[in-house]
This record gives sequence, structure tokens and C-alpha cells, in this order.
Amino acid sequence: MRVVISGDSTLPRVLSGIQPTGEPHLGNLLGALRYWVEDQSRGDCFYCVVDLHGLTVAGDASERRTASITMATLLLAAGLDPDVCTLFLQSHVPAHSQLAWIMECTASYGELSRMTQFKDKTAKGGEQASRVGLFTYPCLMAADILAYDADRVPVGDDQRQHLELARDLAQRFNTTYGDTFVVPEAAIAPPGRGARIMNLQDPTRKMSKTTDNPGGVVGLFDSPGDIERKIKRAVTDTEAGPGALRYDRETKPGVSNLLELLGTLRGNDPETVALDYTRYGDLKADVASAVLEVVEPIQQRFREISKDPDYVADVLRSGARSANKVASATLRRAYRAVGLVAAGGTDAIRW
Ligand code: TYM
Repeated sequence: MRVVISGDSTLPRVLSGIQPTGEPHLGNLLGALRYWVEDQSRGDCFYCVVDLHGLTVAGDASERRTASITMATLLLAAGLDPDVCTLFLQSHVPAHSQLAWIMECTASYGELSRMTQFKDKTAKGGEQASRVGLFTYPCLMAADILAYDADRVPVGDDQRQHLELARDLAQRFNTTYGDTFVVPEAAIAPPGRGARIMNLQDPTRKMSKTTDNPGGVVGLFDSPGDIERKIKRAVTDTEAGPGALRYDRETKPGVSNLLELLGTLRGNDPETVALDYTRYGDLKADVASAVLEVVEPIQQRFREISKDPDYVADVLRSGARSANKVASATLRRAYRAVGLVAAGGTDAIRW
């Protein structure tokens, strides 16, 4: 079922989100943000800075505020056009939290316990000390998506399991209470094309905002010098001689990650990129200049947009207005479907 509340009914509805916590990095850009920018001319797109998700971990209140605005500014700098897409802060749209409760009452404890991100994130501090919000996080994420009747959700590969859960919850709800939600599709880059960018110092682990190995994370706010240095110091391997430079994720994760980076930036597959190189140093030099070619203009635009905080505030205000219209209508539909009585409504009362 496709329920169109507003916007252009002929375009697919797209929804995605990014957490404001931690410094945005090359993995975010190549796995998600560049697809957001591409999709905006092909879909009816809603993109949000998921500030409520950020509350699942400890943080300073004033830093949180700055981080949310910084992330929204970065998204504009990366190419989101508020005349074409809707950009907003998640907490400006109360329906996300309200629908999250409905999702929590649809999901089972068992399925949330199986979420690998929850297990990874609690591995260090332990489950006992983890916030409940970290456990129920995928229900809020499902709500983010289902509130917009999203057809497509562009994300990196690490969000695959959360997307599967969102689909399961939508289907279960529809089966139990009647067609209410659109069942969303994950839009994940094909393997080798940026879906999972790895840490340059530990290429068996994904590049992440929360990492023990910051030397392997290319931050989108890093100076050009730092970016170059991090790429030149990327871990490879000691194999030498003809044929050493090849794409093989299993046995050569470091080189393969560099080939994927360059391939993704040049629109080529990593195996083809490998044919042009025999020396790791040459490959690293080209990866560094390809990365700088996309990151430097974003940094430049970021500096410009940051000079006008009123503009960013206006974008977010008008984004929240559009998002609220769509999400509150979906929430009303879901409330009605589960049997909550509309405020002021007497239609359900039969004496
Ligand atoms: P977050 O904030 O961790 O990451 C934002 C986006 O970047 C992608 N990504 C990567 N892609 C490739 N390689 C990497 N190393 C890499 N690291 C991150 C993520 O897959 C994501 O697409 N739970 C989400 C935020 C969220 C959301 C949503 C996403 C909340 N509600 C609704 C989509 C729809 C998250 O923590 O993303």
C-alpha cells in the first residue's frame, strides 16, 4: 500500500538519517551521503539528523546542540538542496518518538537482543550499564522510516540488519492491524562500491565515528595534510612482486579497502582499478588526491554556510514543518489501526 500524504506521488519516497554524535567521516560520505545527494532529484526525499538517537550514549548538552547544527550544515555543504529535499532534526518531529512506542510494542525482546550493533556497542561497558535506549534504538529507527511511508532507505551495509527489522515490524503490524505502513527497501551500494569503508589502520573493522583507532578514520573535517598523512600510513601488507597489488578482501583487506575507495570515487570497480597499479605508494597517492578532490570543496562550502546560521535555522524550521505534516498523518493512521481513540473523538464509544 502506498499512502501519499504530500509531495509528488510519482516519485519514490526516500528517508534516511545520520547521527550527529562523533565526527562524520569518509565512510558516511561514500556509504550514504553521496547517495542522499543523488537521490534528491529522483525522489521525494526526507533526510534527518537523528539527534534523539544520539541520546543513547553519554554526552555534554551544549556539545550535542553544536553537533546537531554542525551536522545539518555539513549535509548542506555535501550537496543537499533544501529546495529539492526536506532536511530536519529528528527531535523537531514528535511523531518519531510516538511511533517508536508503537514499534516497541510490535517488536519482541528476542529480536532486539539479536541486533549485532547493540551487542558490539555494549561489548565494552557491558549490557548492565547500557542505556535502555541503546537496546530499543532499532524501534526508533523503524519509526523514523515508517513515519514517512519510505520506499527507499539509502544506508551503508552496517544498517542492513536494522532495515530488515524495520521491514519485519511493518509487515507484522500490517498483518495484525491491517495495511498501515509501506514496507521499505534498503538501498545499499553494491559490494566494493562504498557500502562498507574500513578503518585504514585496522582494515578488518569498519570506519566508525566511535573507534579505538582514530588514525584510520578520515574525518570530513580533517585538514588536507592530515587526510594525506592518514592515507599514506594506511596499513597494507608485505607481499611484493608482480601480482601483489590485487583486490582480495579476505587475504588483502588493507589494499582492497584502498582500491575500493578509489574505485568508489572514480565510478569503477576495485578489480579494474587494481590493473593500473604495481606499487602501493602510487595507489595511496592517487587515493589521497581523489579523496581531497571531493572533501576539500565540501569543507569550503561548510565554511561559507557556517557564516550564516540563520539560513541553517530557516532550512531546519521549514524542513520540520514539511516533515511534521507527513509523519503526524502516519502516526494518526497507526493510532487508529491499533485502537487508540482519537483525541476529542467519540466514534469508538458505543453504549
Ligand atoms: P550513522 O550515523 O552511524 O551513519 C550514517 C550513515 O553512514 C553509513 N556508514 C557507512 N557507510 C559505509 N562505510 C562505513 N564505514 C560507514 N559508517 C557509517 C551508515 O550505514 C549510515 O547510512 N542508525 C543510523 C542512523 C539512523 C537511520 C535512521 C538511518 C537513524 N534512523 C533511519 C536510516 C534511516 C546510524 O547510526 O547511522
